[in-house]
Amino acid sequence: MKQILELITDKVTEAFETCGYDKKYGWVSISNRPDLCEFQCNGALAAAKEYKKAPIAIAGEVAERLQTLDMFEKCESCAPGFINMNLSKEYLASYVSSMSADTKRMGVDKVAEPKKVMIDYGGPNVAKPLHVGHLRSAVIGESIKRTLRFAGHDVIGDVHLGDWGLQMGLIITELKLRKPELVYFDDTFQGEYPKEAPFTISELEEIYPCASAKSKEDEAYKAEAMDATFKLQHGNRGYQALLGHILTVSVNDLKRNYEKLDVTFDLWKGESDAQPYIPDMVQKMKDDGFAYISDGALVVDVKLDTDTKEVPPCMILKSDGASLYNTTDLATMVWRMKDYNPDTMIYVVDKRQELYFTQVFRCAKKTGIVPEETNLHFIGFGTMNGKDGKPFKTRQGGVMRLEYLLSEVEEKMLSKIQENGTMEGEEAAKTASTVALSAIKYGDLSNQASKDYIFDIDRFTSSEGNTGPYILYTIVRMKSILSKAGFDKNSGASVLAAHSDSEKALMLELTKFSAAVNSAATEMAPHKICAYIYDLANAFNRFYHDTKILAEEDAAVKNSYLSLLALTDNVLETAINLLGFEAPERM
Ligand code: ARG
Repeated sequence: MKQILELITDKVTEAFETCGYDKKYGWVSISNRPDLCEFQCNGALAAAKEYKKAPIAIAGEVAERLQTLDMFEKCESCAPGFINMNLSKEYLASYVSSMSADTKRMGVDKVAEPKKVMIDYGGPNVAKPLHVGHLRSAVIGESIKRTLRFAGHDVIGDVHLGDWGLQMGLIITELKLRKPELVYFDDTFQGEYPKEAPFTISELEEIYPCASAKSKEDEAYKAEAMDATFKLQHGNRGYQALLGHILTVSVNDLKRNYEKLDVTFDLWKGESDAQPYIPDMVQKMKDDGFAYISDGALVVDVKLDTDTKEVPPCMILKSDGASLYNTTDLATMVWRMKDYNPDTMIYVVDKRQELYFTQVFRCAKKTGIVPEETNLHFIGFGTMNGKDGKPFKTRQGGVMRLEYLLSEVEEKMLSKIQENGTMEGEEAAKTASTVALSAIKYGDLSNQASKDYIFDIDRFTSSEGNTGPYILYTIVRMKSILSKAGFDKNSGASVLAAHSDSEKALMLELTKFSAAVNSAATEMAPHKICAYIYDLANAFNRFYHDTKILAEEDAAVKNSYLSLLALTDNVLETAINLLGFEAPERM
């Protein structure tokens, strides 16, 4: 379905041509003075120069022409040369009716040329609990994935576990100290290792911080951990079996956590999966003359003459031959190209890693790991801060586990629901967790990703203002009216010309859905969807306060109201699905 702006632009360009002017002047935009008109065209101002005529004269001719069309209720020229337009109520109703008939996509076309996109998000580190720092990557990445998919692209999400660094060596070292008798530490052992992991997730979560703290104080301990890391990376059987256990135990726990966030991944690959590709990749970089030794380490230069800031060389191997974060990211690109050959790779990572990704991307292109035409895109997000403006912490000042943050918001929502007294027990708990997720995700996504934001639990959970719960309240209100009326939400029924200004305003807002989704997809900017649905929810609530829907006596009018409600509900529910949350049946 064509966007409403395109349809209007078509007519206005035609009018410019009929009046003897170039059609390029017929470009229309949404009015920036909604008090004066709905749409405007400023082309006469530019055309005036070419045709050496007063802009108002050109605008007048074109407006007069447009006035004869059914599309418009009002078209007028306005000093110094604007063309102001309002759509006719009938035309608008017919456009909205076609959106309504398209019950799955509400008028949003799929892209003409779908791309294969791989999106790298989440990025949790195994053996460490998920903390709030990983929240943004998961929330933003999930929304971008869903939005690009809805737009029609073929999207593959990969969690890219952090499972290949010193943290693995640390865990192995500590485990060896605690349970030296384990078969994994017996170098002579040739048999099959046990299936059962020698630790639980709680033990694992305790081992890592303990080992990490020791390594900071004890040089010998650290050296041992580095040695264990090296052995692991160079094929030590026992250590690799332990890595397998760490992964299984940890990934099970991560999956449970991501499930609570309603975040899913197509691939659960990690840094360690890149390991088999490292030797050949490094060899090729050397053979092609890109990689050279500098201060003992193997590096590739990635600076450009045009750089305004220094971009240091990309380090490929440390002087001891160990691979680094860079190495696994580059080797990951090797298998991603080989197995999937994507057109675009997106990375949703903390913006403090921007320089790092500049180095990695340049190195990948320079060394031919990724062809020139493949799009490498870094989406760097800002920090989630506490009310003090500093990175979000627990009350005790520690790193906040994501799980605890979630339950805190859930509890807050639950007590609100209990205060309202609308429901209890299981239903109340389930609703609280649905609404809590909307509060967290909307609170995050309504900000431009690159900006820092303040996690304000009171504001985020409020049912008033620009919040997730406000959007959900609006949806629940519509659902309840539709169910009282016994109206089939997916009937795709048409609507009549608007009966009031607020109804027309709601219809106009609905027509912007497709543009909002398109710009959110092309710019990979979920905040555009939030901004749109906030406007739409406001337009609906104004209409709702002005209109007696269920008490309307004229059956045709009442039905038209209900179809409009059903469409608004469909649009809002589709949009929140793109943001990664859903609405309860009641609240
Ligand atoms: N595990 C990393 C961290 O916690 C994030 C991974 C981001 N993705 C990537 N391909 N490097 O900082």
